[in-house]
Amino acid sequence: MPPLFADLPVAQFANPTAAAGNPYLDRHREIIDRRKFETALSQIAAWPGYVPTPLILLEGLASELGIRDLWYKDESQRFGLGSFKALGGAYAVLRQLVRIAEKRLSHPVDAAGLVAGGDDCVVRDVTVACATDGNHGLSVAWGARTFGCRAVILVHENVSDARVATIQRHGAEVRRVPGNYDDSVRMVDREASANDWIVVSDTSYPGYVEIPKDVMQGYTVMADEILSQLPPATLPTHVFVQAGVGGLAAAVCGHFWEELGPRRPRLIVVEPDRAACLFASARASRPKRIRGALDTVMAGLACGDPSRLAWDILHDGADHFLTLPDTAVAPVMRLLFDGVAGGPRIVAGESAVAGLAALIAATAQPALSDQLGLAPDSRVLVLGTEGATDPEQFHRLTGRQADAG
Ligand SMILES: Cc1ncc(COP(=O)(O)O)c(C=O)c1O
Repeated sequence: MPPLFADLPVAQFANPTAAAGNPYLDRHREIIDRRKFETALSQIAAWPGYVPTPLILLEGLASELGIRDLWYKDESQRFGLGSFKALGGAYAVLRQLVRIAEKRLSHPVDAAGLVAGGDDCVVRDVTVACATDGNHGLSVAWGARTFGCRAVILVHENVSDARVATIQRHGAEVRRVPGNYDDSVRMVDREASANDWIVVSDTSYPGYVEIPKDVMQGYTVMADEILSQLPPATLPTHVFVQAGVGGLAAAVCGHFWEELGPRRPRLIVVEPDRAACLFASARASRPKRIRGALDTVMAGLACGDPSRLAWDILHDGADHFLTLPDTAVAPVMRLLFDGVAGGPRIVAGESAVAGLAALIAATAQPALSDQLGLAPDSRVLVLGTEGATDPEQFHRLTGRQADAG
Protein backbone atom coordinates (compact mmCIF):
# COMPACT_ATOMS: atom_id res chain seq x y z
CA MET A 1 0.00 0.00 0.00
CA PRO A 2 1.26 3.51 -0.64
CA PRO A 3 2.87 4.69 2.62
CA LEU A 4 0.90 7.92 2.53
CA PHE A 5 -2.20 6.20 3.95
CA ALA A 6 -0.71 5.67 7.41
CA ASP A 7 -0.38 9.45 7.75
CA LEU A 8 -3.33 10.54 5.65
CA PRO A 9 -5.23 13.21 7.60
CA VAL A 10 -8.69 11.66 7.93
CA ALA A 11 -11.30 13.34 10.14
CA GLN A 12 -13.94 11.11 11.70
CA PHE A 13 -17.26 11.91 13.36
CA ALA A 14 -19.31 9.12 14.95
CA ASN A 15 -22.98 9.97 14.55
CA PRO A 16 -24.63 9.72 17.98
CA THR A 17 -28.15 9.47 16.51
CA ALA A 18 -27.53 6.38 14.36
CA ALA A 19 -27.81 2.91 15.86
CA ALA A 20 -28.25 -0.45 14.16
CA GLY A 21 -31.46 -1.04 16.10
CA ASN A 22 -33.14 2.23 15.00
CA PRO A 23 -36.41 1.35 13.26
CA TYR A 24 -37.03 2.39 9.65
CA LEU A 25 -39.87 4.86 10.10
CA ASP A 26 -42.66 6.19 7.89
CA ARG A 27 -40.80 9.48 7.52
CA HIS A 28 -37.87 7.54 6.04
CA ARG A 29 -40.28 5.58 3.82
CA GLU A 30 -41.58 8.90 2.51
CA ILE A 31 -38.15 9.22 0.87
CA ILE A 32 -36.88 5.70 0.11
CA ASP A 33 -39.48 2.98 -0.02
CA ARG A 34 -39.65 -0.66 -1.12
CA ARG A 35 -42.84 -0.26 -3.15
CA LYS A 36 -41.39 2.67 -5.08
CA PHE A 37 -38.17 0.72 -5.51
CA GLU A 38 -40.13 -2.08 -7.19
CA THR A 39 -41.66 0.39 -9.65
CA ALA A 40 -38.22 1.87 -10.36
CA LEU A 41 -36.70 -1.55 -10.93
CA SER A 42 -39.45 -2.73 -13.25
CA GLN A 43 -39.12 0.43 -15.37
CA ILE A 44 -35.32 0.74 -15.39
CA ALA A 45 -34.83 -2.96 -16.14
CA ALA A 46 -36.85 -2.38 -19.34
CA TRP A 47 -34.55 0.36 -20.67
CA PRO A 48 -32.28 -0.43 -23.58
CA GLY A 49 -28.92 -1.70 -22.33
CA TYR A 50 -29.91 -2.52 -18.74
CA VAL A 51 -27.66 -5.09 -17.10
CA PRO A 52 -26.62 -5.25 -13.44
CA THR A 53 -23.08 -3.91 -13.05
CA PRO A 54 -20.42 -6.26 -11.61
CA LEU A 55 -19.78 -6.76 -7.90
CA ILE A 56 -16.08 -7.62 -7.78
CA LEU A 57 -14.54 -9.54 -4.89
CA LEU A 58 -11.05 -8.15 -4.23
CA GLU A 59 -9.63 -11.07 -2.30
CA GLY A 60 -5.96 -10.12 -2.50
CA LEU A 61 -6.57 -6.55 -1.38
CA ALA A 62 -8.83 -7.73 1.47
CA SER A 63 -6.07 -9.93 2.79
CA GLU A 64 -3.47 -7.14 2.43
CA LEU A 65 -5.77 -4.85 4.41
CA GLY A 66 -6.36 -7.48 7.09
CA ILE A 67 -10.12 -7.87 6.59
CA ARG A 68 -12.16 -10.90 5.57
CA ASP A 69 -13.85 -9.71 2.38
CA LEU A 70 -13.85 -6.65 0.18
CA TRP A 71 -16.43 -6.10 -2.55
CA TYR A 72 -16.21 -3.35 -5.16
CA LYS A 73 -19.40 -2.44 -7.02
CA ASP A 74 -18.12 -1.30 -10.40
CA GLU A 75 -20.38 1.32 -11.99
CA SER A 76 -17.99 2.17 -14.81
CA GLN A 77 -20.17 0.56 -17.47
CA ARG A 78 -23.66 1.63 -16.33
CA PHE A 79 -25.75 2.20 -19.48
CA GLY A 80 -22.56 3.11 -21.29
CA LEU A 81 -22.61 6.43 -19.39
CA GLY A 82 -19.92 5.50 -16.92
CA SER A 83 -21.55 6.13 -13.55
CA PHE A 84 -24.35 5.07 -11.20
CA LYS A 85 -25.92 8.47 -11.85
CA ALA A 86 -27.35 7.03 -15.06
CA LEU A 87 -29.99 5.35 -12.88
CA GLY A 88 -31.28 8.44 -11.11
CA GLY A 89 -31.63 11.49 -13.37
CA ALA A 90 -32.92 9.48 -16.32
CA TYR A 91 -35.50 7.73 -14.14
CA ALA A 92 -36.77 11.06 -12.79
CA VAL A 93 -37.02 12.38 -16.37
CA LEU A 94 -39.11 9.36 -17.36
CA ARG A 95 -41.42 9.80 -14.36
CA GLN A 96 -42.02 13.45 -15.28
CA LEU A 97 -42.71 12.65 -18.91
CA VAL A 98 -45.21 9.93 -17.99
CA ARG A 99 -46.96 12.39 -15.69
CA ILE A 100 -47.18 15.04 -18.41
CA ALA A 101 -48.25 12.57 -21.10
CA GLU A 102 -51.04 11.27 -18.85
CA LYS A 103 -52.26 14.78 -18.18
CA ARG A 104 -52.25 15.65 -21.86
CA LEU A 105 -53.80 12.41 -23.08
CA SER A 106 -56.19 12.00 -20.14
CA HIS A 107 -55.46 8.30 -19.89
CA PRO A 108 -52.82 6.18 -18.17
CA VAL A 109 -49.55 6.00 -20.09
CA ASP A 110 -47.21 3.04 -19.84
CA ALA A 111 -43.58 4.09 -19.25
CA ALA A 112 -42.50 1.33 -21.64
CA GLY A 113 -44.39 3.16 -24.41
CA LEU A 114 -42.25 6.25 -23.92
CA VAL A 115 -39.07 4.16 -23.89
CA ALA A 116 -40.07 2.70 -27.22
CA GLY A 117 -40.85 6.17 -28.57
CA GLY A 118 -44.56 5.34 -28.70
CA ASP A 119 -45.95 8.47 -27.07
CA ASP A 120 -42.97 10.70 -27.70
CA CYS A 121 -44.86 13.23 -29.81
CA VAL A 122 -46.83 14.15 -26.69
CA VAL A 123 -43.77 15.26 -24.76
CA ARG A 124 -41.45 16.43 -27.53
CA ASP A 125 -41.92 20.08 -26.58
CA VAL A 126 -41.07 19.47 -22.89
CA THR A 127 -37.70 20.72 -21.62
CA VAL A 128 -36.02 19.19 -18.61
CA ALA A 129 -33.12 21.04 -17.01
CA CYS A 130 -30.56 20.57 -14.29
CA ALA A 131 -27.30 21.78 -12.86
CA THR A 132 -24.47 19.30 -12.88
CA ASP A 133 -20.82 18.69 -12.26
CA GLY A 134 -20.98 16.10 -15.00
CA ASN A 135 -22.56 12.75 -14.30
CA HIS A 136 -26.07 13.79 -13.30
CA GLY A 137 -26.36 16.09 -16.32
CA LEU A 138 -25.32 13.25 -18.59
CA SER A 139 -28.02 11.06 -17.07
CA VAL A 140 -30.67 13.74 -17.62
CA ALA A 141 -29.47 14.34 -21.20
CA TRP A 142 -29.56 10.60 -21.95
CA GLY A 143 -33.01 10.30 -20.38
CA ALA A 144 -34.33 13.23 -22.41
CA ARG A 145 -33.04 11.76 -25.65
CA THR A 146 -34.17 8.22 -24.83
CA PHE A 147 -37.68 9.21 -23.77
CA GLY A 148 -38.23 11.98 -26.31
CA CYS A 149 -37.89 15.52 -24.88
CA ARG A 150 -35.37 18.40 -24.76
CA ALA A 151 -32.69 18.99 -22.11
CA VAL A 152 -30.81 22.10 -21.01
CA ILE A 153 -27.89 21.44 -18.69
CA LEU A 154 -26.14 24.15 -16.65
CA VAL A 155 -22.49 23.60 -15.80
CA HIS A 156 -20.39 25.70 -13.44
CA GLU A 157 -16.90 27.12 -13.99
CA ASN A 158 -14.97 24.04 -12.93
CA VAL A 159 -16.71 21.44 -15.09
CA SER A 160 -14.21 20.26 -17.69
CA ASP A 161 -14.68 20.80 -21.43
CA ALA A 162 -14.50 17.03 -21.89
CA ARG A 163 -17.54 16.54 -19.66
CA VAL A 164 -19.43 19.30 -21.49
CA ALA A 165 -18.67 17.66 -24.84
CA THR A 166 -19.98 14.30 -23.62
CA ILE A 167 -23.27 15.82 -22.49
CA GLN A 168 -23.59 17.66 -25.81
CA ARG A 169 -23.02 14.42 -27.70
CA HIS A 170 -26.16 13.14 -26.00
CA GLY A 171 -28.17 15.91 -27.59
CA ALA A 172 -28.52 18.38 -24.72
CA GLU A 173 -27.96 22.11 -24.83
CA VAL A 174 -25.22 22.99 -22.33
CA ARG A 175 -24.89 26.45 -20.78
CA ARG A 176 -21.87 27.46 -18.73
CA VAL A 177 -22.62 29.65 -15.69
CA PRO A 178 -20.38 31.43 -13.19
CA GLY A 179 -19.74 30.15 -9.66
CA ASN A 180 -19.67 26.67 -8.15
CA TYR A 181 -22.10 23.72 -8.19
CA ASP A 182 -24.38 25.23 -5.56
CA ASP A 183 -24.60 28.48 -7.55
CA SER A 184 -25.60 26.53 -10.65
CA VAL A 185 -28.33 24.70 -8.69
CA ARG A 186 -29.84 28.04 -7.69
CA MET A 187 -29.49 29.44 -11.20
CA VAL A 188 -31.28 26.57 -12.90
CA ASP A 189 -34.15 26.98 -10.48
CA ARG A 190 -34.53 30.65 -11.50
CA GLU A 191 -34.10 29.98 -15.24
CA ALA A 192 -36.63 27.17 -15.13
CA SER A 193 -39.34 29.39 -13.70
CA ALA A 194 -38.73 31.94 -16.44
CA ASN A 195 -38.65 29.37 -19.28
CA ASP A 196 -41.18 26.77 -18.16
CA TRP A 197 -38.58 24.03 -17.83
CA ILE A 198 -38.89 21.11 -15.45
CA VAL A 199 -35.96 21.00 -13.06
CA VAL A 200 -34.70 17.45 -12.57
CA SER A 201 -32.22 17.94 -9.77
CA ASP A 202 -30.25 15.33 -7.84
CA THR A 203 -30.43 17.51 -4.78
CA SER A 204 -33.44 18.67 -2.80
CA TYR A 205 -34.04 21.92 -0.99
CA PRO A 206 -36.92 23.46 0.92
CA GLY A 207 -39.94 23.45 -1.41
CA TYR A 208 -38.38 21.05 -3.94
CA VAL A 209 -38.43 17.41 -2.90
CA GLU A 210 -40.58 15.19 -5.12
CA ILE A 211 -38.32 14.89 -8.18
CA PRO A 212 -35.11 14.25 -6.18
CA LYS A 213 -36.98 11.39 -4.47
CA ASP A 214 -37.32 9.73 -7.89
CA VAL A 215 -33.61 10.34 -8.56
CA MET A 216 -32.66 8.66 -5.29
CA GLN A 217 -35.14 5.84 -5.81
CA GLY A 218 -33.39 5.16 -9.13
CA TYR A 219 -30.11 4.69 -7.24
CA THR A 220 -31.70 1.99 -5.06
CA VAL A 221 -31.66 -0.28 -8.10
CA MET A 222 -27.88 -0.39 -7.70
CA ALA A 223 -28.17 -1.06 -3.96
CA ASP A 224 -30.56 -3.92 -4.60
CA GLU A 225 -28.35 -5.47 -7.28
CA ILE A 226 -25.66 -5.71 -4.62
CA LEU A 227 -27.93 -7.63 -2.25
CA SER A 228 -28.67 -10.13 -5.05
CA GLN A 229 -25.01 -10.43 -6.02
CA LEU A 230 -23.56 -11.14 -2.56
CA PRO A 231 -22.94 -14.80 -1.75
CA PRO A 232 -25.91 -16.54 -0.09
CA ALA A 233 -26.43 -15.65 3.57
CA THR A 234 -23.54 -13.18 3.46
CA LEU A 235 -23.84 -9.48 4.23
CA PRO A 236 -21.27 -6.74 4.50
CA THR A 237 -20.46 -5.47 7.97
CA HIS A 238 -19.40 -2.04 6.64
CA VAL A 239 -20.24 0.12 3.62
CA PHE A 240 -17.98 3.02 2.67
CA VAL A 241 -19.75 5.43 0.34
CA GLN A 242 -18.56 8.76 -1.00
CA ALA A 243 -20.92 11.72 -0.98
CA GLY A 244 -21.56 15.00 -2.74
CA VAL A 245 -25.05 16.15 -1.72
CA GLY A 246 -25.65 12.74 -0.08
CA GLY A 247 -28.34 11.36 -2.39
CA LEU A 248 -26.42 8.19 -3.16
CA ALA A 249 -25.42 7.55 0.46
CA ALA A 250 -29.01 8.06 1.60
CA ALA A 251 -30.41 5.78 -1.10
CA VAL A 252 -28.02 2.99 -0.11
CA CYS A 253 -28.60 3.63 3.59
CA GLY A 254 -32.39 3.68 3.23
CA HIS A 255 -32.63 0.62 1.00
CA PHE A 256 -30.32 -1.52 3.12
CA TRP A 257 -32.05 -0.33 6.29
CA GLU A 258 -35.52 -1.15 4.99
CA GLU A 259 -34.44 -4.53 3.58
CA LEU A 260 -32.10 -5.69 6.35
CA GLY A 261 -33.33 -3.97 9.52
CA PRO A 262 -30.86 -4.46 12.38
CA ARG A 263 -28.64 -6.65 10.16
CA ARG A 264 -27.81 -3.61 8.04
CA PRO A 265 -24.12 -2.77 7.69
CA ARG A 266 -22.41 0.12 9.39
CA LEU A 267 -22.61 3.03 6.93
CA ILE A 268 -19.60 5.31 6.58
CA VAL A 269 -20.05 8.48 4.52
CA VAL A 270 -16.84 9.83 2.99
CA GLU A 271 -16.33 13.35 1.63
CA PRO A 272 -13.47 15.47 0.32
CA ASP A 273 -12.15 17.68 3.11
CA ARG A 274 -12.73 20.71 0.87
CA ALA A 275 -16.42 19.98 0.35
CA ALA A 276 -17.56 18.22 3.50
CA CYS A 277 -21.09 19.55 3.94
CA LEU A 278 -22.49 16.31 5.40
CA PHE A 279 -19.63 16.05 7.88
CA ALA A 280 -20.36 19.64 8.95
CA SER A 281 -24.08 18.85 9.13
CA ALA A 282 -23.48 15.74 11.24
CA ARG A 283 -21.41 17.72 13.69
CA ALA A 284 -24.05 20.43 13.92
CA SER A 285 -26.90 17.87 13.93
CA ARG A 286 -28.71 19.88 11.28
CA PRO A 287 -28.21 20.55 7.55
CA LYS A 288 -25.32 22.94 7.17
CA ARG A 289 -24.17 24.72 4.06
CA ILE A 290 -20.46 25.33 3.66
CA ARG A 291 -19.07 28.09 1.48
CA GLY A 292 -15.99 28.53 -0.60
CA ALA A 293 -14.66 27.31 -3.91
CA LEU A 294 -15.17 23.59 -3.08
CA ASP A 295 -12.14 22.99 -5.28
CA THR A 296 -11.56 19.30 -4.88
CA VAL A 297 -10.27 16.96 -7.56
CA MET A 298 -13.25 14.72 -6.71
CA ALA A 299 -15.45 16.66 -9.13
CA GLY A 300 -18.68 14.79 -8.45
CA LEU A 301 -18.34 15.35 -4.72
CA ALA A 302 -17.76 19.12 -4.87
CA CYS A 303 -21.00 20.12 -3.15
CA GLY A 304 -21.41 22.57 -0.28
CA ASP A 305 -25.09 22.16 0.44
CA PRO A 306 -26.50 18.80 1.52
CA SER A 307 -29.69 17.46 -0.02
CA ARG A 308 -32.38 17.91 2.63
CA LEU A 309 -33.95 14.52 1.85
CA ALA A 310 -30.59 12.81 2.03
CA TRP A 311 -29.87 14.49 5.32
CA ASP A 312 -33.18 13.29 6.78
CA ILE A 313 -32.09 9.68 6.23
CA LEU A 314 -28.39 10.03 6.97
CA HIS A 315 -28.96 11.90 10.22
CA ASP A 316 -30.72 8.82 11.61
CA GLY A 317 -28.92 6.09 9.67
CA ALA A 318 -25.30 6.96 8.83
CA ASP A 319 -22.93 5.71 11.51
CA HIS A 320 -19.80 7.69 10.67
CA PHE A 321 -18.81 10.71 8.59
CA LEU A 322 -15.24 10.97 7.32
CA THR A 323 -13.28 13.50 5.30
CA LEU A 324 -10.07 12.99 3.37
CA PRO A 325 -7.73 15.11 1.27
CA ASP A 326 -7.32 15.06 -2.50
CA THR A 327 -3.89 13.42 -2.15
CA ALA A 328 -5.63 10.08 -1.50
CA VAL A 329 -7.32 9.94 -4.89
CA ALA A 330 -4.70 9.32 -7.57
CA PRO A 331 -2.84 6.53 -5.71
CA VAL A 332 -6.07 4.54 -5.31
CA MET A 333 -7.08 5.08 -8.95
CA ARG A 334 -3.65 3.73 -9.91
CA LEU A 335 -3.87 0.74 -7.57
CA LEU A 336 -7.18 -0.29 -9.10
CA PHE A 337 -6.07 0.26 -12.67
CA ASP A 338 -2.89 -1.76 -12.13
CA GLY A 339 -4.86 -4.68 -10.67
CA VAL A 340 -3.98 -4.40 -7.00
CA ALA A 341 -2.93 -7.62 -5.18
CA GLY A 342 -3.75 -9.85 -8.12
CA GLY A 343 -7.18 -8.28 -8.69
CA PRO A 344 -8.59 -7.40 -12.10
CA ARG A 345 -7.97 -4.06 -13.82
CA ILE A 346 -10.62 -1.60 -12.64
CA VAL A 347 -11.09 1.79 -14.21
CA ALA A 348 -12.22 4.15 -11.46
CA GLY A 349 -12.68 7.89 -11.92
CA GLU A 350 -11.64 10.58 -9.48
CA SER A 351 -15.02 10.62 -7.69
CA ALA A 352 -15.19 6.82 -7.39
CA VAL A 353 -12.47 6.01 -4.92
CA ALA A 354 -12.99 8.09 -1.78
CA GLY A 355 -14.71 5.18 -0.02
CA LEU A 356 -11.93 2.73 -0.81
CA ALA A 357 -9.27 5.32 0.07
CA ALA A 358 -10.92 5.81 3.46
CA LEU A 359 -10.95 2.05 4.06
CA ILE A 360 -7.26 1.76 3.17
CA ALA A 361 -6.42 4.67 5.47
CA ALA A 362 -8.48 3.17 8.29
CA THR A 363 -6.71 -0.18 8.08
CA ALA A 364 -3.36 1.66 8.26
CA GLN A 365 -4.39 3.79 11.25
CA PRO A 366 -5.23 1.75 14.37
CA ALA A 367 -7.20 4.48 16.15
CA LEU A 368 -9.42 5.06 13.13
CA SER A 369 -9.82 1.35 12.55
CA ASP A 370 -11.05 0.96 16.16
CA GLN A 371 -13.45 3.86 15.82
CA LEU A 372 -15.00 2.24 12.74
CA GLY A 373 -15.09 -1.21 14.32
CA LEU A 374 -12.92 -2.78 11.62
CA ALA A 375 -11.58 -6.21 12.53
CA PRO A 376 -10.11 -9.28 10.77
CA ASP A 377 -13.63 -10.69 10.23
CA SER A 378 -14.99 -7.47 8.65
CA ARG A 379 -16.69 -7.73 5.28
CA VAL A 380 -16.54 -4.41 3.51
CA LEU A 381 -18.45 -3.05 0.55
CA VAL A 382 -17.19 -0.03 -1.39
CA LEU A 383 -18.99 1.66 -4.24
CA GLY A 384 -16.93 2.34 -7.33
CA THR A 385 -19.35 4.97 -8.50
CA GLU A 386 -17.79 5.90 -11.85
CA GLY A 387 -15.30 4.92 -14.49
CA ALA A 388 -13.12 7.33 -16.45
CA THR A 389 -15.93 9.82 -17.09
CA ASP A 390 -13.27 12.43 -17.91
CA PRO A 391 -10.50 10.46 -19.68
CA GLU A 392 -8.11 13.43 -19.86
CA GLN A 393 -8.35 13.98 -16.12
CA PHE A 394 -7.91 10.24 -15.58
CA HIS A 395 -4.67 10.37 -17.55
CA ARG A 396 -3.44 13.50 -15.77
CA LEU A 397 -4.04 11.92 -12.37
CA THR A 398 -2.83 8.39 -13.00
CA GLY A 399 -0.41 8.59 -15.93
CA ARG A 400 -2.47 5.75 -17.46
CA GLN A 401 -4.80 5.68 -20.48
CA ALA A 402 -8.26 4.61 -19.40
CA ASP A 403 -9.00 2.83 -22.65
CA ALA A 404 -5.79 0.76 -22.56
CA GLY A 405 -7.02 -2.84 -22.54
C1 LIG B 1 -19.08 9.41 -9.43
C2 LIG B 1 -19.87 9.99 -8.34
N1 LIG B 1 -19.82 9.39 -7.14
C3 LIG B 1 -20.54 9.86 -6.10
C4 LIG B 1 -21.32 10.99 -6.23
C5 LIG B 1 -22.07 11.50 -5.04
O1 LIG B 1 -23.46 11.43 -5.17
P1 LIG B 1 -24.38 12.40 -4.31
O2 LIG B 1 -24.20 13.79 -4.85
O3 LIG B 1 -25.76 11.88 -4.51
O4 LIG B 1 -23.91 12.31 -2.91
C6 LIG B 1 -21.38 11.64 -7.47
C7 LIG B 1 -22.21 12.85 -7.65
O5 LIG B 1 -22.24 13.46 -8.71
C8 LIG B 1 -20.65 11.12 -8.56
O6 LIG B 1 -20.67 11.70 -9.76
